[in-house]
Amino acid sequence: MAKPEKHVFVCSHSRPADDPKGSCEARGSQPVIDAFSEALGSRNLWGRIKLSTSSCLGTCEVGPSVLVYPEGVMYQKVKASDVIDIIEKHLVGGEPIESLKAPAELWS
Ligand code: FES
Repeated sequence: MAKPEKHVFVCSHSRPADDPKGSCEARGSQPVIDAFSEALGSRNLWGRIKLSTSSCLGTCEVGPSVLVYPEGVMYQKVKASDVIDIIEKHLVGGEPIESLKAPAELWS
């Protein structure tokens, strides 16, 4: 496998329903994962962009959390409807989406 240009981690961590931290799974990470998978496939980007689910990324309170390397950009409260923008503007276009970035105090 060739080294990907970008690696996207989508937190799919789950916790019990009564856990005060909540989780990205409870906040809707699965539709985000599905949207990335569909959109990367339909755009033939699997050779350039790697998608992985992950355990907790540390920004639970603003999940679903999506982390993009090599830049180390953390996106917060990602919805399936955000995925096309992330792919087209950031992963392909090279410009991270400022309005979706997690606050610096949570991730800097
Ligand atoms: S549960 Fe997703 S960042 Fe912690």
